[in-house]
Amino acid sequence: MSNVFYAPGKQRAAKVSDLFASIARRYDLLNDLQSFGFHRIWKRRVTELARVKSGDLALDLCCGTGDIAFALAQRGAETIGLDFSEKMLEVAQSRLQKSKSRIQNLKFMQGDAQQLPFPDNSFDAVTVGYGLRNLSSWESGLAEMVRVAKPGGRIVVLEFGKPANPFWRRIYFAHLSCSVPLVGLLFCGNAQAYAYILESLKHYPAQTAVEEKMRALQLSNVQVVNFFGGAMAINFGQKPL
Ligand SMILES: C[S@@+](CC[C@H](N)C(=O)[O-])C[C@H]1O[C@@H](n2cnc3c(N)ncnc32)[C@H](O)[C@@H]1O
Repeated sequence: MSNVFYAPGKQRAAKVSDLFASIARRYDLLNDLQSFGFHRIWKRRVTELARVKSGDLALDLCCGTGDIAFALAQRGAETIGLDFSEKMLEVAQSRLQKSKSRIQNLKFMQGDAQQLPFPDNSFDAVTVGYGLRNLSSWESGLAEMVRVAKPGGRIVVLEFGKPANPFWRRIYFAHLSCSVPLVGLLFCGNAQAYAYILESLKHYPAQTAVEEKMRALQLSNVQVVNFFGGAMAINFGQKPL
């Protein structure tokens, strides 16, 4: 797979969609293995920052198999999980089917995070986990999140980060380029899909630029929550009232 597909631009969407179709069935298992289960803690932090309550409307973009969307719904929000990958949504739907008796306030739908089919000012919280980095333009994805958030609405982005410390960054990038694809190969038969994490991260300016962009979009209470020295990060902001 040529690296050109990972550069921001229109060519990326089709390749990213194929990639997630190929790993959908094993995606949850690999998440647990690759992060040693830590992704559950980071996603829990996302839902805490989203601060949803019963009756709120929440949107989780690039929802994949639905972890964050389920957590928002469990906190009582009427939640929509949106993703463009049919295969990832099939897994999300089957999880929902299994918990149908308990979770009534969650829907999954297919759509493009960069062209959301919702009016302005619709949601109390808009979240995205490991999605922004995959978009043809992360800036337009973030702008869409802000557009559909209500005034005062919370915008929460969880994504791989870039550690500020150069030594730690080198170790972390070595891990992403060696161990992560190896685990992808062993448990999913697909090393390239997991090599994609580092490739896409190279083209994504990460937490500092997202913070700057949130400020440029006039969000309030902008903050960055770093984990593991910035290897993982959450960007938070609120749409002005
Ligand atoms: C790494 S997965 C993240 C899944 C989930 N949010 C999680 O944290 O486990 C990225 C997801 O983004 C979706 N995606 C990528 N580009 C998208 C786009 N333009 N619109 C909607 N979904 C997109 C992919 O289909 C994939 O399911």
